[in-house]
Amino acid sequence: MSKEAKIRDKEGKAWLYTDVVKDHFFNPKNLLKHGEEENYNADASGRVGSPACGDEMALWLKIDKKSERITECKWQTFGCASAIASTSMLSVMVTENGGMKVDDALKIKPQDILARLGGLPARKVHCSVLGDQALRTAINDWFQKTGQNQRIINV
Ligand code: FES
Repeated sequence: MSKEAKIRDKEGKAWLYTDVVKDHFFNPKNLLKHGEEENYNADASGRVGSPACGDEMALWLKIDKKSERITECKWQTFGCASAIASTSMLSVMVTENGGMKVDDALKIKPQDILARLGGLPARKVHCSVLGDQALRTAINDWFQKTGQNQRIINV
């Protein structure tokens, strides 16, 4: 299979998507199906919208209180293919290898997600910010719910 897929926009310009992006778009990891959020017993959640395009992202976390590791990260979005692929990758990054500690998860930047995806077309980079902001919002929610308001950060 080719390393990159070319998709043309309305003006006929080619956008390049890596195989990793395509995989996470066609087989999103940790996606919470619509309707399942009511029975998903999350420790924290975050919901953000993108001023750039009006899309929305919701994200739920399960966090082990003692180790502060993220054991599950589920999400839903009405965003585009790039938002889906980016957030799918983000959800893998924070839960792989036994789960990332919340302080380390707060250090993740959109560039780190892009690096794991092998890049996104320049005009799609803002889509990767959506999951990142939802993650920070959810971690802030966890800080608040666990009485650690002093740890709340600016999203
Ligand atoms: S264009 Fe809105 S999330 Fe990608």
